[in-house]
Parts: sequence; C-alpha cells; structure tokens
Amino acid sequence: MTTEVRSNTGADASNEAGAALAERTDAVILVGGQGTRLRPLTVNTPKPMLPTAGRPFLEHLLGRIRAAGMTHVVLGTSYKAEVFEEHFGDGSDLGLEIEYVVETEPLGTGGGIRNVADKLRYDTAMVFNGDVLGGTDLRAVLGTHAEKDADVTMHLVRVPDPRAFGCVPTDADGRVLEFLEKTQDPPTDQINAGIYVFRREVIESIPAGRPISVEREIFPALLDGGRAVYGHVDYAYWRDMGTPGDFVRGSSDLVRGIAPSPLLEGHHGESLVDDSASVGGGALLYGGSVVGRGAEIGAGARIDQSVIFDGARIGAGAVIERSIVAAGADIGPRTVVSDAIIGEGAVVGARCELINGLRVWPGVTIPDHGVRFSTDV
Ligand code: GTP
Repeated sequence: MTTEVRSNTGADASNEAGAALAERTDAVILVGGQGTRLRPLTVNTPKPMLPTAGRPFLEHLLGRIRAAGMTHVVLGTSYKAEVFEEHFGDGSDLGLEIEYVVETEPLGTGGGIRNVADKLRYDTAMVFNGDVLGGTDLRAVLGTHAEKDADVTMHLVRVPDPRAFGCVPTDADGRVLEFLEKTQDPPTDQINAGIYVFRREVIESIPAGRPISVEREIFPALLDGGRAVYGHVDYAYWRDMGTPGDFVRGSSDLVRGIAPSPLLEGHHGESLVDDSASVGGGALLYGGSVVGRGAEIGAGARIDQSVIFDGARIGAGAVIERSIVAAGADIGPRTVVSDAIIGEGAVVGARCELINGLRVWPGVTIPDHGVRFSTDV
C-alpha cells in the first residue's frame, strides 16, 4: 500500500513537471520524406497530408501537441514543402504558431532536426516523426526528460513482435544502452517510437548542412560520447503509417477510437461519412471506414476498413476492403478492390478484381472486367 502511494505521488510529480515543461518546449515535426511506400497516393500529396479519418494525418498530431500544452511548432519540410503552409498557414486556426523550414536537398531525419535549430525558442525541443500515429502521453515523456535531467529522452514503445523494428534496451534506471538493428532474436520488446526530446544544445551540436540519420548516426554517437540518453517506456497505441496496410488500419483505428485523437472525441463509430457524401440504399460501411466530401457510394456496395477520398464514386454492389480509393476515382459496379490502392482520378470499369497489393496509378482507365483474378467473368 505504502509503495503504491509513493509511486503515484512520483507519477503525479513527473506529470506536473511534464505539463510545466510543455509550455517551454518547441515541437518539431519531420515531414520531409517522399513517402515512396504509399505511392501513388504520395505522387501529388505528401504523406502527412493524406486524409485520415476525415483530416490530413498531420492535423491529428498537431491536435495532440496542442492538447499537451505546446504551442510553437516548426515543420521540417522538403518533399512538396509548399502544401503544408498552404493548408495550415500560421497555425492560428489550430491555436498554434507554426513555422516552416524547407530543405532544398533532403537532409534525412538528423539533418532535418539540425536544420530547424535557428527557429527554436526554448531549451527543450520535442521532435516527432510526422508519419507515426501514436497515443502516448506527451506530458509524461516530457516528465521523464525533466526527472532524469536527460540530454535526450526517447519514447520507446513495447510491442508484441519487435522483430520488424530496431530495438532499444535500457538499464534499470531507464538509461539507453544501445540501438540495435532489426534482428530475429531481439533482446527486448522496446522499439524506437519516433518521438525524441532534445536538449537544444544537443541539436546545435549536430553537423549542419549534410544529410544525416538520427537513428543510425546521431544516437549511437551520443551514447559513445557518454551523453545522458534515456528511454520513456510505455504500451501506448503506436503505428507507423508508412505502408498501405498500416495506413488503412491506422485510419480505421482513429475512426473506431482505438487510436486517440483530440479531433475525433465523441465521434467514434464503425464509419465516418462526410455530410456531403451520398450513400445508396443497402450499402454497408464498417470496419472504421471513411467516406470523404462529395463521395458517392452506390446501392448495395460494401466498404470495409477502407478510406474513400473526396469526390470518389463507388458503383452499386462493389466491394472495397482494406483499400484506399483516392480523390475523384471511379469504381465500377460489382468491382472488388481488396488490399489495393486506386490512384486519383483513375477509372475502373465494372466487375474487375483488383486485389493483393495492386496499385492503380492516377488517371489510368481499366475497362469493364479488364482485370480479373478469377477465371470467369
Ligand atoms: P518512405 O519513402 O515510404 O520510406 O517514407 P518516408 O520518406 O516518409 O521515410 P520514413 O518513413 O523513413 O521517414 C520517417 C519520418 O521522417 C517521416 O515523417 C518523414 O517525413 C521524415 N523524413 C524522412 N526523410 C526526411 C528528410 O530528408 N527531411 C525531413 N525534414 N524529414 C524527413
């Protein structure tokens, strides 16, 4: 009993310290990547701006940053840099002050962090990978950073199967021991979750003006130099939205309330359909599916765990599962789209079968039953 009271008091103190520190912390978001794994969705739109549960993905993260008490945000952009400022402007609509730094040549994750140094206002910066959907308590991460008086604190999340990720063992005090590449036999289930709290002076010590990886170069160098690098470990929701499968799953988790977003509180369910979309009789929408502005879903269509962007049309009796149909695309009646991406403005005829990782490029036209996996039409 005594132990419990003591540990709660410790957690409260740490949360209070985190809340106070949030007001004196710059948020930095890396959004410069090309998002190749999500092509062709990312041919015209940078990955963090793809619609996810009705908003650009990045907006959910900005909402969490605001809710944690940070207000000054610097976006490190490169690929399609202009798209971000056109959408978010100075950030005041979101209660934030957003600044933009553009890399003419992509500088990688470490170079991207170094490149925003001149915009930092405080002694602490919380850096985010712009494509992670997470649920961790940001104030608690800052609380750990303050409590340990760390040079860098990284969010480490415990996952059921760490083999697909680099893992990060820590000692009993939470100090990071090493950064390990992917292995079939990981010694810990703690993986790098892509949120780092930096002492500003550490960012300033990163070599400027050349591409550099934070994971492969900067963190190992900090450990070699004996700097105080700590882990904040938890079991929070965590998903890297980099692949089509993770993108549809993450969007679905937001809609269902499995992944938290301050923008969706009180609006969870099996589907999220924009008021301006039309849905025909007998159509079924479930699995956390999203239907965007002005989209049309035909009678009897079945949409499961999928994202239908603005202005897309799904024909009567079509089946769309675990897939993304980009803006203005047209899917013919009784066509099946399963684990696939249909690019912007593509036209797919009736009774096609587009399955298993298939990607249709923007503007492509496929005639009625033009692509099948079954032997009959
Ligand atoms: P893929 O091409 O599909 O691997 O995606 P990606 O380009 O986004 O790369 P990755 O998922 O490894 O990037 C992780 C995070 O870092 C994402 O939020 C990217 O936007 C960001 N990022 C990657 N490279 C750069 C870069 O050179 N500069 C900046 N500013 N951000 C970057």
